[in-house]
Amino acid sequence: MDVKKILSEMTLEEKAKLCQGLDFWHTVPVERLGVPSMMVSDGPHGLRKQAEQADHLGVNESIKAVCYPTAAGTACSFDRELLETLGSALGKTCQAENVGVILGPAANIKRSPLCGRNFEYFSEDPYLSGEIAAAHIRGVQKEGVGTSLKHFAANNQETRRMSVSAEIDERTLREIYLASFEGAVKGGDPWTLMCSYNKINGTYSSENPWLLTDVLRGDWGYKGAVMTDWGACNDHVKGVAAGLELEMPRSGDENDQAVIDAVKNSQLDEAVLDRAVERMLNLINLYETNHRAGETIDLNEQHHLARRIARESMVLLKNDGGLLPIKGNKKVAFIGRFAEQPRFQGGGSSHINCSEETSALDAVRSVSAVTYAAGYDIAGDTVNEALETEAVKAAAEAEVAVLFLGLPDAFESEGYDRDHMRMPACQEHLLNAVAAVQKNIVVVLHNGAPIEMPWVDQVPAILEAYLGGQAGGGAVVDLLFGAVSPCGKLAETFPVKLSDTPSYLNFPGDAEHVVYAEGVYVGYRYYDKKEMPVLFPFGHGLSYTTFVYSNLRLSADNYKSGKLAVSVDVTNTGDMAAKEIVEIYVRPENAVKDRPVRELKGFAKIALAPGETGTATVELDERSFSYWETTIHDWYMEPGKYAIEAAASSRDIRLTAEVEVENKPLRVNVTMDTTFGDVMAIPGAKEVVADVTKFMGMFNAEEDSAAGEAISTEMVEAMLRFMPIHNMRSFSDGKLTREELQRVVEKLNQIQE
Ligand code: BGC
Repeated sequence: MDVKKILSEMTLEEKAKLCQGLDFWHTVPVERLGVPSMMVSDGPHGLRKQAEQADHLGVNESIKAVCYPTAAGTACSFDRELLETLGSALGKTCQAENVGVILGPAANIKRSPLCGRNFEYFSEDPYLSGEIAAAHIRGVQKEGVGTSLKHFAANNQETRRMSVSAEIDERTLREIYLASFEGAVKGGDPWTLMCSYNKINGTYSSENPWLLTDVLRGDWGYKGAVMTDWGACNDHVKGVAAGLELEMPRSGDENDQAVIDAVKNSQLDEAVLDRAVERMLNLINLYETNHRAGETIDLNEQHHLARRIARESMVLLKNDGGLLPIKGNKKVAFIGRFAEQPRFQGGGSSHINCSEETSALDAVRSVSAVTYAAGYDIAGDTVNEALETEAVKAAAEAEVAVLFLGLPDAFESEGYDRDHMRMPACQEHLLNAVAAVQKNIVVVLHNGAPIEMPWVDQVPAILEAYLGGQAGGGAVVDLLFGAVSPCGKLAETFPVKLSDTPSYLNFPGDAEHVVYAEGVYVGYRYYDKKEMPVLFPFGHGLSYTTFVYSNLRLSADNYKSGKLAVSVDVTNTGDMAAKEIVEIYVRPENAVKDRPVRELKGFAKIALAPGETGTATVELDERSFSYWETTIHDWYMEPGKYAIEAAASSRDIRLTAEVEVENKPLRVNVTMDTTFGDVMAIPGAKEVVADVTKFMGMFNAEEDSAAGEAISTEMVEAMLRFMPIHNMRSFSDGKLTREELQRVVEKLNQIQE
């Protein structure tokens, strides 16, 4: 397709039309110029292609496809290669179904555990989220199918998601909420992005030039197209002007006409419309040149892949006394309706019409003759006495009771948020009743986000299965009985209780606004800074074997730019082959800036046989040491000492090394309002201000012995630290003029040039 030529031959009407969908799932063709229509369909953990009646809430049936574990789980694999494999399976499925772009992955940060859509999001940490999303994107796109990274940006709740304004300061946006997308854009280069419904600081994402053009295209160098979330278009003309290419789904002729009129009356520069149309043509060209007609897929093979991915994604939270894996011919009872009817995916637009489903009860038949009791009804909170009595009896008669518990669909979904973090009361009731008769309890959790566990001390073992996809039941059995060792680690913190969470006082906000008052202190950044106990920390996950970390080394003791290699040896000291995720955190040791205690800046996963030692290596760069500095509107690598931590979780730091980071001090933009404390950070400032600060002599302990008894040098320094330059006139007894102070200000700016 000769994009430039086609663009030059298109009429204004055709151009306007191309910036809206044809219908719910297709782009508009321009038949006379040979531009085909392209289909987009939902993902991200399977293909939801609707042939007939379209909707964006997963209401009407779609074609049969394989449902993989949702993002909340796959992020816990910390495994880029695995996510590429998953992406590639999705890409092949799209090829077979003639779908050009599969919507997702979703890289929104888990700001609060209450967000109803957290099951579709990866992490509370932007580095992990960005890396995993990028791998997903690379996997899909290497099959010649596009992705749509969503929901850009700051869509961190479902309450009023279509209208709320997320009020977020610049640093927090850059370091947390945008950073997740930045990693995915730079590491994956998605064909498209999907802008969010909400406003950011008062402006809808779909018409936000700062977001769609300055940041996305300007700062990150993105070249692809942006579409709206379904119905996220507010003012289409403003949208096109801001850097939006495609309104989805089609809203009618009115918006085409609005664009045409805006060009005709010079409200919208035609060159800006052309830019949008060119990006749309480039996208359709990508589809046309990469589409492989007649591709077929093997759903059974994909089902097995789904089981493997689920195994790598589940997290063993607790295993006191080595209750797991279940060995020998123990009498095992499976208890809980989820053993038979697992909840393995979430509700809403990502809902897959599964090709098949394996429950844990199906899968266990070939491994162990378990007894089964349903124990509770999935819907509702009410205790079913008969089911509970039967379950307690089964638990009492067994040697191990495996309780399948979690959140029903009604508790969490696209479209609404939770208002508490507890499991249904009937499930907690069942757990307590079982705990009264059986000590060997394993809880297997099916949930898309953390829950409170007031019962945690009553059970020796907990396996977090998340929403494990259609083959999740098989994966649970593989892990329970030790066919493989669990290896996932939490991509989010499990807090003790809801009121501990950083956004507790500001979620989901009032009618129009939600203030992100906790700033950059999201997830473990908050709990670590507050030195708070948590239920299970970010990065936590147990194994059936043990690992010893040794020999942490850096490629240099000083760092200025380029790459800094961090290596650590890990030995499998147990008797089972297993994988270990090594987390690398960076901790500023003498930062002037207020910064999180530690931040994840690298990770690696290694497979080790019993007794084997392997080396995990990650590379750090300038960004690993930087924070977003609002005075320069850029990243700044603060010089100083940093600890590099090799960790098994954010609260299990195994080894620490130190590096000295060198950089030019930050330029201080000196004005009459700048304090002397800030001025003193400028090299050479002391000499420049000496003539001015000498008037503080009246407080100067060294010069005035009478005052010296009452006022120490420290006090004078403290007073100066927060005194703006202009205030010095008041202490000079009329000797300093404004002009003289102005000259000092100029000099201080000059010496920094
Ligand atoms: C969701 C998107 C989804 C779209 C199309 C919207 O409601 O927010 O994630 O891709 O519908 O179904």
